[in-house]
Amino acid sequence: MYSSKIVGLGHHLPEQVITNEYLSTLMDTNDEWIVERTGIQERRWIDPAKDTVGNMAAKAARMALERAKVDVKEVEFIVFATITSDYYFPGSGVIMQRELGLEGIGAMDIKNACSGFIYALSVADQFIKTGMYKTVLVVGAEIQSTALDVTTRGRNTAVIFGDGAGAAVLQRSDKPGILSTHLHADGRYAEELYVKDPGSSRPREERQPEQILDTTGFKVVMNGNQVFKHAVVRFMEAINEALATNQLKKEDINLLVPHQANLRISQYIQEKLNLRDDQVYNNIQRYGNTTAASIPIAMSEAWAEGKMKENDVICLAAFGSGFTWASALIRW
Ligand code: UT7
Repeated sequence: MYSSKIVGLGHHLPEQVITNEYLSTLMDTNDEWIVERTGIQERRWIDPAKDTVGNMAAKAARMALERAKVDVKEVEFIVFATITSDYYFPGSGVIMQRELGLEGIGAMDIKNACSGFIYALSVADQFIKTGMYKTVLVVGAEIQSTALDVTTRGRNTAVIFGDGAGAAVLQRSDKPGILSTHLHADGRYAEELYVKDPGSSRPREERQPEQILDTTGFKVVMNGNQVFKHAVVRFMEAINEALATNQLKKEDINLLVPHQANLRISQYIQEKLNLRDDQVYNNIQRYGNTTAASIPIAMSEAWAEGKMKENDVICLAAFGSGFTWASALIRW
């Protein structure tokens, strides 16, 4: 078995900053409620004339490759995590592949929402560990702004989600990098956070033009309370599982990069793990919850700020729609 290591990280965020004040002109909400309940001050929304999931991901991937000093032609496989692919099908992995001029290599999409990046990292890690590939691009990218209900009816989700992309270059290595990954799901809660359409569950008679004009099913539906309650439990379980697998203790974590779901969730985990503020990376204040993109964007920024040093133990953890949850432990 080989080892795999992240050798480069990159990210891309759309330019358009959407403040809480702006949202309060669209719906009945306010800055105080949003900051107090979520920690979010602003998020980015795409400009549909400029940004697509595929091209934002390509920009993030180019930054990751440049920082890694790895030529794009060395990439042998793409694992692309998104729930907001450019088209219903095919997935956005092939779109990014085309943008990068990598025609011919395999591209796989992962649709596991907020846990998507860790699932994608795990898949790439297995391919490298077994010797199938030496260099894999692992990407998380989302455009959620176009699916949000930006009226008062959709305010519990419209204020949370944002757009962005992050990428990691994973390569075969002599020394252990990805120590372990842990993936979980519980489909009994699938409808607690979901978008119904254009799913195949819609019967033929409901797929007539007049129903298609009704776009309600295309909006994000979330039972926020239920998601929150499960999230705090599953985040901790996944982190403890990762530590136990590697015979490490919570004191051994140098940096925790949690999925940016809600600042209150991150703060709860921080308290449970007894970590200092500088040991937990949060950027939800600036970008909101970017689902599969949140961990690679946060890692890319943390790396650029010098927060991930050689030999550090980095812990990733996520929870989201499905429900799915996951963790990864990395020796940097
Ligand atoms: O990425 C993984 C997936 N997502 C998550 O992890 C999110 C997990 N859940 C959450 O972050 C929180 O549940 C929310 C931030 C979504 C909501 O916070 P909450 O403290 O659970 O509020 P709530 O849903 O219990 O709603 C409290 C009140 C309600 O009004 P009433 O019924 O008490 O009169 C809501 O209608 O707040 C109202 N409300 C709002 N008010 C102003 C809901 N959204 C808003 C809003 N602005 N944007």
